Amino acid sequence: MKGNRIIGTGMGLPARVVTNEDIAKIVDTTDEWITSRTGIKERRIAEDHETTSDFGATAAKNAMEMARIGPEEIDLIIVATLSPDRLLPSTSCLVQGKIGAKNAACFDLEAACSGFVYGLAVANGMMPDMGVKTALIIGAETLSRVLDWTDRNTCVLFADGAGAAILRHDGNRDRGILSTYLKADGSAPPPWLTVEPGVADLNPLGDYGSKDFAIRMVGKEVFKFGVRALPDAVNGALGRTDGVSLEDVKLIIPHQANLRIIDAAAKSLDIPKERFFINLQKYGNTSAGTIPIALDDANRQGLIEKGDIIAMAGFGAGLTWAGTIVRW
Ligand code: UT7
Repeated sequence: MKGNRIIGTGMGLPARVVTNEDIAKIVDTTDEWITSRTGIKERRIAEDHETTSDFGATAAKNAMEMARIGPEEIDLIIVATLSPDRLLPSTSCLVQGKIGAKNAACFDLEAACSGFVYGLAVANGMMPDMGVKTALIIGAETLSRVLDWTDRNTCVLFADGAGAAILRHDGNRDRGILSTYLKADGSAPPPWLTVEPGVADLNPLGDYGSKDFAIRMVGKEVFKFGVRALPDAVNGALGRTDGVSLEDVKLIIPHQANLRIIDAAAKSLDIPKERFFINLQKYGNTSAGTIPIALDDANRQGLIEKGDIIAMAGFGAGLTWAGTIVRW
């Protein structure tokens, strides 16, 4: 326990709502299939001019407003994303420019859907020892631009948007991040969940050839992994606290990939599903965005009060999975 507390949360979403019925006009699917297999009803999709750094900057501004801090107070910006505006410069630098956080160190972090929890853990580790008193951690994506809109296995699931949290070192050891638990397994076959082509696919003259640029996924394998990873992320993070038990956790904020994965995790943990916060029906799977968007949604609904213990748990490509326990 280092006395690092979340003092503000925010989200930044495209205004455009795309329903399952809208998707059914693009690929061979139905609202019934998407709802029963995933729980998703609608999602937000970017306009042509909107990018990951735009959503990140909006989420950041909303979080700063809640935290009542100005941009110049931020010492560190971490953006977790798999859909950066560009390979260079980092999206965190672009966000920095957009919000005017001129005193911040900035870098991006790629841990797919676990990225926000990874980011919280890294920021927590840097505070206050590396001169970081106030950190801005963002999970942001524009996945609509890396989707194959003819592939019904993926285009019904993924979406756009960002969430953010402000973490501040206030030295109060009764509240804040109690533990973090980061895991990865690089031995899983990359085709399970990948975006191709990448730099490795470029020929020396920089030509991608005919390859489509898109998320590819073996849904069934990722599903089975998620069912194992979510409970492990929660239990692993609990195991690193000073005796906090699952019973002490008021709310679990899981990666919002599929309602059936959350159902299975609830069963495996032997707790009612009601202890999980779920908003995937509204926003779909925004990868690194889901957990901070859900955190902000729950926070603004008044579901998290001072002293409450919450868990956040993510899993995704890599493979990666991660959990954290926080006393609010
Ligand atoms: O962020 C982390 C990464 N992602 C995930 O966590 C996703 C994990 N995986 C999943 O959520 C699920 O595997 C999916 C939702 C992707 C797929 O659900 P499923 O129950 O595993 O379906 P399936 O792939 O076994 O497909 C069942 C049937 C197939 O038809 P047949 O072969 O039984 O005739 C598919 O062709 O459903 C068909 N299908 C669809 N039908 C209508 C697959 N996608 C669709 C679709 N609409 N969009």
